[in-house]
Amino acid sequence: MRIGVLTGGGDCPGLNAVLRAIVKRAVRSHGWEVAGVRHGWRGLLVDEVDVLDLDDVSGILPRGGTILGTSRTNPYHDPDGEERVRRAFQTHRLEALIAIGGEDTLGAANKLAASGLPIVGVPKTIDNDVNGTDYTFGFDTAMTVATEAIDRLHTTAESHDRVMVVEVMGRHAGWIALEAGIAGGADLILIPEFPVTTKEIGEMVTRRHDRGKSFSIIVVAEGAQVSDDSGAPLFVPGEKRDAFGHVRLGGIAPAIAEQVEAATGFETRYTVLGHIQRGGSPTAFDRVLGSRFGVAAVDLVAEKGYGRMVAVQGTRIVTIPLTEAVGSMKVVSPELYETARVFFS
Ligand code: F6P
Repeated sequence: MRIGVLTGGGDCPGLNAVLRAIVKRAVRSHGWEVAGVRHGWRGLLVDEVDVLDLDDVSGILPRGGTILGTSRTNPYHDPDGEERVRRAFQTHRLEALIAIGGEDTLGAANKLAASGLPIVGVPKTIDNDVNGTDYTFGFDTAMTVATEAIDRLHTTAESHDRVMVVEVMGRHAGWIALEAGIAGGADLILIPEFPVTTKEIGEMVTRRHDRGKSFSIIVVAEGAQVSDDSGAPLFVPGEKRDAFGHVRLGGIAPAIAEQVEAATGFETRYTVLGHIQRGGSPTAFDRVLGSRFGVAAVDLVAEKGYGRMVAVQGTRIVTIPLTEAVGSMKVVSPELYETARVFFS
């Protein structure tokens, strides 16, 4: 049997752990051949497919990024995209495909599987917002990087009596901001799920400083909903969009910092962590989760569980229909945000 594997969407620490696990399980346990599709769905559209053998995956476990490369190519962007993917299956003799990705890659995988192609999914994103799985690999690494950054910003904020605004990734869901914010002792966490006004932010900072504190740390997710006094969004992203129609985010922190300084009179600085959260070596947690997902995805192919995705629920690896994973996002619940609020100033 010959199976293909691709990594799509934004890269993510732990992708190489999944690829290594897929090749080892497929080759050693099942005697299959694995074909690596380059740059996500694009590799199938332009025939960039090469054999991935045991030597190719040797030593890649601690490496960030993906040895296959990735892209945000949407096969449904072109009217004949689905047909071209189907042809690529034949050209490269693929009897099944493992698609590793977030909402967009899995959304395309779901449509292709519904059209009859033998595809299974592996959930990936630092944003941790895929439905049906408690965690996606990459999230733990991003959260750890953000927590360390917050710790570092704490000491300089304290020394200079400043307010620090730290922007982390999180387009639709605020998981990184929430968990890094709790872990780093943030005084306020702003996430897409719970809109806030600049007035409320200013009041919080003033309250804290009235109590004798001389510095504050505000953690904000890039997709946070913050409105100004007139009710208008404080930050409006630019026009640029990817093939799935998502605008490019990043840049809400400077706008918040300016408003906080103007409203409170306290010196304020901002830091945008950006892709630093996505790069570099995965944490042990992400290496283990990625390895477990990779093994389970190959076993899912062996069972012909097409149209399904591997997931972690509690401590167990399970499989769920792709339709349950796509369409809506896993967001932070009011209960969890309420817990975070206990630590706000
Ligand atoms: O992978 C999801 C994500 O991390 C989002 O939080 C972020 O908006 C996006 O990727 C940015 O990715 P890129 O700069 O690669 O388009």
